[in-house]
Parts: sequence; C-alpha cells; structure tokens
Amino acid sequence: MGKRNRVFLFMLLMAFAVVLAACGSSENSSSSKDSKSESGETSLKDKKILVGTEATFAPFEYMDDNGNIVGIDKDIVDAIFTELGMEYEMRHVGWEAVFQQVQNGELDMGASGITITDERKETFDFTEPYFEATQVIVVTEDSPIESAKDLEGKKVSVQINSTGHQAAKKLLGETNPNILAYENLPLAIQEVINGTAQAAIGDNAVVYEYLKNNPNAKLKVIEDDAFEKEYYGFMVKKGNKELLDLLNEGLQKIKENGKLAEITGQELE
Ligand code: ARG
Repeated sequence: MGKRNRVFLFMLLMAFAVVLAACGSSENSSSSKDSKSESGETSLKDKKILVGTEATFAPFEYMDDNGNIVGIDKDIVDAIFTELGMEYEMRHVGWEAVFQQVQNGELDMGASGITITDERKETFDFTEPYFEATQVIVVTEDSPIESAKDLEGKKVSVQINSTGHQAAKKLLGETNPNILAYENLPLAIQEVINGTAQAAIGDNAVVYEYLKNNPNAKLKVIEDDAFEKEYYGFMVKKGNKELLDLLNEGLQKIKENGKLAEITGQELE
C-alpha cells in the first residue's frame, strides 16, 4: 500500500470513528429523552404547578398583611412540594373559580379546605384526606337557636356551593329561599352579625378561628351531631393520575414523618 493510500485509509477510519461516536452519543441522548417522556414524571416534575384557592378561609388560607397567601393549606402544599422537589404557585382565584379552573385546566389543582364528596368525585379526583372537619352553626350570643332543628323557618347564611350550603339544603329543603348563599364564609357570618340571617353554617375550624379573631362580634357556636364528619383533600381534574399520584406520594411522606400533624395539630387515623 502506497503512503497516499495509507493516509487515505487512516482518514477514512477516523471519519468512520467520528460518525460512530456521534451516533452513539445521539442515541444516548435520545434514549434518555425517551425514558423521561415514557414515565411522564419528568415533564410534570419540571413544570410549575398552579394551585388555586379562596383565601378568606383562615386558618387554612388567608392573606397576610403583605398580600401573601398563608395558612395551613399553604404550609401543607409547601411541605408536599418540598418533598417532591417540585415548584408551585398558589393563586387566590375565588371559591367557585377553583372548581371551574381546575376543570378547564387553567389550574392544576385546588387546595382550599375542599371536602371530599361523592358529588365532587364525579368531576374531580382527590388525594387521600389530610384533615377531618365538620359543619357547625354560628349564631349571636343572645340567640334562642340551640340546635340544627331550630333552624327551621330561620334565615341561614352559607358559603355558596360549600358543604355548609349542602347541609343547609338538607335541613331546610333544596330550594328554600331562607338559605342565603354568599361568595365566602366571612360574608355569610357578617350577615348574622348585622341581623340579615339568624344563623350561618360553616366549617368548624374556620368558624372558631373567626370568633377568635373577632371577639367583639358577640357570636357563639353550636355543634350538632346532625352534621357528618368531612375530610379535606387536594383536588385535581378527573383523570390527572400523574399529579394525583405525586401529591399522594408527598402527602404520605409528610404523614409518616409527622410534618402533617405538626402543621394541622391533628392526628388522622
Ligand atoms: N369544606 C367546605 C367545602 O369543601 C368549605 C371549603 C371552603 N374553602 C374556602 N377556601 N373558602 O365545601
């Protein structure tokens, strides 16, 4: 073989090696991409998850003096996303908007003291429960009302489409005009204070927190076994198993390491 031919052969081999190496590396990167999208996990994990809430629901979600959303739900979501190594943004969108926007995809999830109900489960999926609650009645200190039965014939205010609203319908009848529905629970309680309604029905921890924060409102709370136990869960669009599984994974971790109980002050069995 002449010198020229040897040089040519060498160059050919080199070129071949370069092509091989390039193939190898491109094969590598494409296969790693494939494995990412196959599990789907990475794409969601890299995304900023949009969380909707209605932040007039202390102690679960409310605005601090700087306009930041704070509270138990915020702390739990924060702990879950820290566990998962994921990012989120929480937005105060309003109560009914949480449901609309999770359904139409503007939001990825709802974290808003949302009770897991069979009716909601037709349209949404919920995580495992993270808090136990029930409804209570709130009346003025001098009210003659003593139990759920006494609400008959009285004007009762509630937060619209809340489980308190459902409870009022169950007690007074589905279309009873004495049920006054408001955008949020503080507005409903306000109507008891100003005398428009004789009672309000709302979530226990939130009503007690309201009384604590408004000692001059002269209100009292009535508990009644007529109200069933409720459980709060985080809500995603029906079928969003990918996010649901991640949320449950994070929730399970903070249940096991005691963080959840530390935040809520409650032991769930
Ligand atoms: N737990 C009740 C429900 O699911 C009321 C929740 C209201 N939450 C709120 N952030 N305003 O219907």
